Amino acid sequence: MPWKRAACAALIVFGAVSLPAASPQPVRARQGMVVSVEENASRVGLEMLRRGGNAVDAAVATALALAVTHPAAGNLGGGGFLLVRFPDGRTTFIDFRERAPAAAHRNLYLDPGGNVIPDASTVGYQASGVPGTVAGLEYAARKYGRLKWSTLAGPAVKLAAKGFILDYHRARSLSAPVNVKRLSQFPESKHIFLRDGRFYQAGERLVQKDLARTLARIRKGGAREFYEGRTAEQLVAFLSRNGGLITAEDLKNYRVVEREPLVGTYRGYQVVSAPPPSSGGVALLEMLNILEQVPLAEKGALSADAIHWTAEAMRRAFADRAQFLGDPDFHHIPARGLTDKAYAAGLRASIDPERASSSAVIRAGNPLIYEGSGQTTHLSVVDRRGAAAALTYTLNDSYGSGVTVEGLGFLLNNEMDDFAVKPGVANAYELLQGEVNSIAPGKRPLSSMTPTIVTRDGKLRLVLGSPGGPTIINTVLNTILNVVEYKMNVQQAVDAPRFHHQWMPDALRMEPGFSPDTLQILRSRGHQVEPRDSIGDVHAIAVDEKTGELLGAADPRLGGKAVGY
Ligand code: DON
Repeated sequence: MPWKRAACAALIVFGAVSLPAASPQPVRARQGMVVSVEENASRVGLEMLRRGGNAVDAAVATALALAVTHPAAGNLGGGGFLLVRFPDGRTTFIDFRERAPAAAHRNLYLDPGGNVIPDASTVGYQASGVPGTVAGLEYAARKYGRLKWSTLAGPAVKLAAKGFILDYHRARSLSAPVNVKRLSQFPESKHIFLRDGRFYQAGERLVQKDLARTLARIRKGGAREFYEGRTAEQLVAFLSRNGGLITAEDLKNYRVVEREPLVGTYRGYQVVSAPPPSSGGVALLEMLNILEQVPLAEKGALSADAIHWTAEAMRRAFADRAQFLGDPDFHHIPARGLTDKAYAAGLRASIDPERASSSAVIRAGNPLIYEGSGQTTHLSVVDRRGAAAALTYTLNDSYGSGVTVEGLGFLLNNEMDDFAVKPGVANAYELLQGEVNSIAPGKRPLSSMTPTIVTRDGKLRLVLGSPGGPTIINTVLNTILNVVEYKMNVQQAVDAPRFHHQWMPDALRMEPGFSPDTLQILRSRGHQVEPRDSIGDVHAIAVDEKTGELLGAADPRLGGKAVGY
């Protein structure tokens, strides 16, 4: 029996939604809400809202602050996506994904025998795509923000210069063996983030002087400073000394792309999400389409039967992801076919209600006939006019390539590993990917980042997103289903245990919190159940249907914080 109903004795009924009495509640506010993985950064966003900034201003300022206070994923040296919904219902998607440098080529990370060179696309100077973050944030602020760039960047400069107190989660990350191993290979990273081996403890202050100077220059000179100014010169000189690939030309040629978001429907809700070069929106809509005709609510949240159907939808969407998705500026992507309801109906019909399919048998479908033509972080904002911003950005793995640029104080991404380094060979996230996502100069690697906004009858209902590589897409799916199907409040929906299937490997990964008998039923149906400590990190905002209140839900998994006013 789902835990939601198990606690019957202690039920409080709030309108249509039944909550166990001890259930956590979201943060409530009327005017504006910011939810991110780190409290200082959330507060920076809130300050911008109070100063008259809109959701885009708050998202940009929060992202710049996270580049200081959450170095595992917050960044200047990475890239990401920003999905915006304006008060009048229009939406846009700002793509500031990294691009492959001009010197990159299909076999960049293969040895002469055609074998993948271990770590080449994940660690060190050659693993980085051309960063997009500074360009993307500035583009968004200039085009859609109300406050000055210098106002938005001010708090980040201060947090870097004066430092901030590390909480448990950030300190733990900075001493985790996997991160220590990566960062200690690079002197600058070892010095700044590992304090040369005297690891930071929770409660200590992290001051980043070099980063403060870099941010101060960017505050003054904007993206131009990063891509063509002194920052660019120092970055290029550093990389060329160390055998990196990114040149001055690459930086100068970097372009933000504004795209149409992908839009679908699910049982009367409208779901607005990330288009290619993310796989997130396509796969999310494909899964929702498959599940739309399945009575999930009747089966019950966290029930083996609901998990079975959902996992089968995941398996099919990820098989398609591997085959069809990549950079739309380089390939035709059959997004329309993949998100077509009739295409989904065929996939649904292939699901056995009692038995897990075998991923060895499942292959990508044929959407063409329906085709008319380690660490990331997510933050959500809603402002008092009802504008919403969902921003996910990343260095790819925690601390990216591990390389901090000498004198500049920021880490570089290892986003090149999101390409199919060798089509058919799994990447760091065990993803199998195809030719459409092979490396080419200037190309954007396929992403799973899924900033998403859900509306109903033209009204904002939910803003969300997550880190977690391919698990991002399923984390967003889990959370949407928890709210829409299972009627959890948004905090419960974020807290609830998650599960993930990505076609290959053929494994159903499940967080703690599912009952042993649920796992047993899934195993008996043929699912390869594997435990996972933690999946995803959702920072969401819902709008109370009745009162219009903003309900902020930070994920407790990495100590996130929702703040509103
Ligand atoms: O864009 C992507 O899909 C990946 N680079 C995201 C990596 C990620 O989420 C790692 N976080 N835990």
